[in-house]
Amino acid sequence: QFTPRVFSGIQPSGNLHLGNYLGALKRFVDMQGPEFQTVYCMVDLHAITTWQDPKDLAHSTRELCAGFIAAGIDPEHSILFNQSQVPEHAQLAWVFNCVARMGWMQRMTQWKDKAGKNQQNASLGLFAYPSLMAADILIYHATHVPVGDDQKQHLELTRDIAIKFNNDFGVDFFPITEPVIEGTATRVMSLRDGSKKMSKSDTSDMSRINMTDDADAIAKKIRKAKTDPDALPSEIDGLEDRPEARNLVNIYAALNDQTAEQVLADVGGKQFGDFKPMLAELAVEKLSPISSEMARLMGEEAEIDQILARGAERARTIASPILQKTYEIVGM
Ligand code: ADP
Ligand code: NA
Repeated sequence: QFTPRVFSGIQPSGNLHLGNYLGALKRFVDMQGPEFQTVYCMVDLHAITTWQDPKDLAHSTRELCAGFIAAGIDPEHSILFNQSQVPEHAQLAWVFNCVARMGWMQRMTQWKDKAGKNQQNASLGLFAYPSLMAADILIYHATHVPVGDDQKQHLELTRDIAIKFNNDFGVDFFPITEPVIEGTATRVMSLRDGSKKMSKSDTSDMSRINMTDDADAIAKKIRKAKTDPDALPSEIDGLEDRPEARNLVNIYAALNDQTAEQVLADVGGKQFGDFKPMLAELAVEKLSPISSEMARLMGEEAEIDQILARGAERARTIASPILQKTYEIVGM
């Protein structure tokens, strides 16, 4: 009964990185096609749940938009827009704030991680973040949501909100969305610490490859990436308990559209001293066309703003009737 529709988003909080590319952007590109309508969003309302300097936010939003397009999102085909330009997201989120339970939100591990020890001083928005995320998805009746592994729990919450809304009001209105968490790069780890995910907010720039890094920076970060002294195994079992080695193999596989098994069949027996330059060369080959196209697009500010304005218009043609119907169901 629901149109097959993909929704996903990325926060314009700066430092777009290889994890965002392999875990999200590249997969957004793969899902463009006849099978789905694709809707992709810069989620600035999510970004401001933690402090963003107003001087940087507009720049980061445009840069992220440039990143989407440079990675292969076609703004004629996909709907590409900025969240705050479609007020229906925040409007539906309020309704969902009244559906979701405090206990559900308190269990969210991202909330606990990001709020840290001083929860009393975290923003209310950070706590309510997953409810806004549910609204982002369900305001389009999206059926499929490609994300990285870190978003799994938020997608379960989105399903719980849809189920509770449908039950509370005795309707079959919101779809029960399918998370799409697939491939070898659903969780790209920090290059400095195999137990932490690669993240925009890591204070060490050496921990991540930024989409704006040049060839020298990419090569240097890979050369300095933490590894162990052993040679690469030829079977996947040999990567158990070697998180840093596994991470580099997974990155290679994802960049080259291979499985980790296929990569190991080729490079098993090599030392990191030989494998790292191969990985650096591959990363530069795949990423530098994207970063140079991003840089070119960043010189065309007016064009980006026009793409985002047009995307917001198209998004609203879907979101606005769904919000109206939601209000009607609730009795407003
Ligand atoms: P970040 O966590 O870097 O601030 P976002 O919260 O904006 O990024 O996430 C945007 C998308 O990128 C989400 O689908 C998220 O799951 C994915 N993502 C973020 N970090 C990684 C990572 N290290 N590996 C794989 N996917 C990731
Ligand atoms: Na994230």
